[in-house]
Amino acid sequence: MAFREVGVVGCGLMGSGIAEVAARSGFSVVVREVTDDLLRRGLDRIDRSMARGVERGKLAAGDRDAARARIRGTTRLADLAGCDLVCEAIIENMEQKKALYRELDGLCPPDTVFASNTSSLSITEMASVMRRPERFLGLHFFNPVPVMKPVEMVRGLTTSEDTLALARAFAEQLGKTVVACKDYPGFIVNLLLVPYLLDAIRALELGVATKEDIDTAVTLGLNHPMGPLTLLDFVGIDTTYYIAEAMFAEFKDARYAAPPLMRKMVLAGLHGRKTGRGFYVYPAR
Ligand code: CAA
Repeated sequence: MAFREVGVVGCGLMGSGIAEVAARSGFSVVVREVTDDLLRRGLDRIDRSMARGVERGKLAAGDRDAARARIRGTTRLADLAGCDLVCEAIIENMEQKKALYRELDGLCPPDTVFASNTSSLSITEMASVMRRPERFLGLHFFNPVPVMKPVEMVRGLTTSEDTLALARAFAEQLGKTVVACKDYPGFIVNLLLVPYLLDAIRALELGVATKEDIDTAVTLGLNHPMGPLTLLDFVGIDTTYYIAEAMFAEFKDARYAAPPLMRKMVLAGLHGRKTGRGFYVYPAR
């Protein structure tokens, strides 16, 4: 059974990107947000991203229009009942994810596959609330989803071979490169990335250098496209904080402990680009 209709839960940075690439690859997409306002903002983000794709010559205007017509927004979870695959990209909070999956389990037919875009939470734990844990896996995309090539395909303890094969075929249809990994906090990329990002905040807190010089040192010294503080603003300081907290809870290792400055920025709503201010200030969109 190949997937035809794809549900996406959450139309934030990641959910909107997943909905966009799935629609651009020919899938019918139903994307759900909790309020009309969040849904409108998410769909606007898709429109802006596809417009950029057209400007950059990556997407023909006709294909953009066809892809956009394949995306249906909703605030009703029940509208995902007909989906063959549901990708979840909501907040990194295990209790909220489990509550969502319990509800989806009751709504969707037994064959539906569930893929969490979690960056760090346990796939096996989420699957444990389902009546079909073998149909559950992690598909972790990278931001910006239309541009970034890899998808981490995460196998929980109960994920079946059939589910992995279907998910791999789906990710490859989206033009992604699949890297497979086991259900381990942070998977591959965040296991390496999160301590680095936290260390960059610690360096700033300690007064080792200015934010600009920390970022310049890394972009020029390591040839990274973005320095760590710019990348934190890009990914979301809140999102990275939740990932770090989840990893700290698992490992009890100071490498994953969020520095005080980070916690204060989260509390103050300085979440990076999406709130207009993080380490840097961004023009309102
Ligand atoms: N659709 C298709 N292609 C698009 C596009 C769209 N909507 N928008 C941009 N592109 C293409 C452009 O055409 C361009 O392609 P070419 O190189 O072939 O010309 C390419 O994408 C780069 O786009 P831009 O020129 O607009 O932008 P840039 O050169 O300034 O790069 C960036 C922007 C890709 C974001 C780059 O700064 C970058 O790679 N930053 C690091 C991103 C990163 O590390 N992401 C991972 C974060 S970690 C994560 O997501 C996981 C987690 O769990 C925290």
